[in-house]
Amino acid sequence: MKTLIKNGRVFDPSQNLDAVMDILVEDGKIKAVATGITEAADEVYDATGLVVTPGLIDMHTHMREPGLEAKEDIISGTMAAAAGGVTTVACMPNTKPVVDSAIIVSGIKQRAAEESYANVEVVGAISKGEKGEELAEMGDMAYRGAVGFSDDGHYVKSSRLFMLAAKYITAFDKPLMLHAIDPELAAEGYMHEGAVSARIGVPGVPSISEDIAVARDCIIAEYAGAHVHICHVASKGAIDIIRQAKKKGINVTSEVTVHHLTLTDEACSNYSSATRVSPPLRSWDHVQAMREAVLDGTVDCIVTDHAPHAPEEKDVEFRYAPCGFCGLETSLGVMLTDLYHTGIFDLKTIISKMSCEPAKVFHLPGGTLKEGSVADITIMDLNKEWTVDSSKFYTRGKFTPYEGKACKGKAVATMLHGNFVMRDGVVCTKK
Ligand code: DOR
Ligand code: ZN
Repeated sequence: MKTLIKNGRVFDPSQNLDAVMDILVEDGKIKAVATGITEAADEVYDATGLVVTPGLIDMHTHMREPGLEAKEDIISGTMAAAAGGVTTVACMPNTKPVVDSAIIVSGIKQRAAEESYANVEVVGAISKGEKGEELAEMGDMAYRGAVGFSDDGHYVKSSRLFMLAAKYITAFDKPLMLHAIDPELAAEGYMHEGAVSARIGVPGVPSISEDIAVARDCIIAEYAGAHVHICHVASKGAIDIIRQAKKKGINVTSEVTVHHLTLTDEACSNYSSATRVSPPLRSWDHVQAMREAVLDGTVDCIVTDHAPHAPEEKDVEFRYAPCGFCGLETSLGVMLTDLYHTGIFDLKTIISKMSCEPAKVFHLPGGTLKEGSVADITIMDLNKEWTVDSSKFYTRGKFTPYEGKACKGKAVATMLHGNFVMRDGVVCTKK
């Protein structure tokens, strides 16, 4: 199968490439990137006026399989990914059972191989059952292809266990991906602690609950010589600790979510359960600090933390609602609308942090349009105007704080291994 993507603006930060060119794709690989390719192809896709980038890579998603399929499964979750222009998702292990053994890693990969619309990378648990008591068999899971390890949803409370994990991990060069929030400091809150929580009468989570956890994790990373990746950083104190740790040469990387770059705790002031998330949406000073950290390189990856819940779970009062909401179908549009069209980030920053850098940090294929690489490609229309409407989502987790948002910019086609998995917003189903 040969496809020729014609006359698109080929935009690939991994090669510093930004020019109107053609891309020839053959047998799942990028065969040529050049101007005026005339070779015959099975399909010619006219990308005039569109931007062609490496496929987006989202290192923090919850696909909810196994066991929580009422919230999401690999088919619905990867359809949402394809719809949003995302070609690789890394799924977190807080499932039922927890992904804490090699057989479950293999099982998820097997399920994804049968039917999925994105590459599915698996994050294994650090501790058995994510209970924080006993190390999970990270070596076995790494052998089966786990890309990193996390007790996401929980902090690894025991410093001793975390130190053992950090030492263990150095043997196979995979990061510990940390949900770094001190649970005792966060226990009594439902949203960010600040002026808004005081005004609306909801107990708050202090941002130092993140700072303290991140500080300990960086100290142990230095001691053990391990790679730690701090998930969904949302506090200005925490990001500053990461900045200092990086300067010191500690092997720490970090990610920030789209929502922590674009929303403040004011979004919670109508008590909508669609805004309840962990870490919570914080105040403007924290949002600004996250944006600065993206620009100065303290943040390596921009992620969704796509965390779907079943409608009946989420459609309850603010404080009873589980944390998290879907993000795969809004991430690119929100980034382009709120950060690119406003001139806050350039396109290079956005595509680097949503594709090239995650590939580098996690040693994944993709994140580039270099000849010979896998043909995972996102084609986007930077000026397409659309409105967020969760009733049209592929994900089962319909709740989003962006409901009704007017957006400018969207993925219009997604190619996975040389085949289109989405065109014009519609996922190309296999059956
Ligand atoms: O809001 C969140 N939801 N944060 C997490 O860390 C976990 C996630 C989930 O699994 O629902
Ligand atoms: Zn988390």
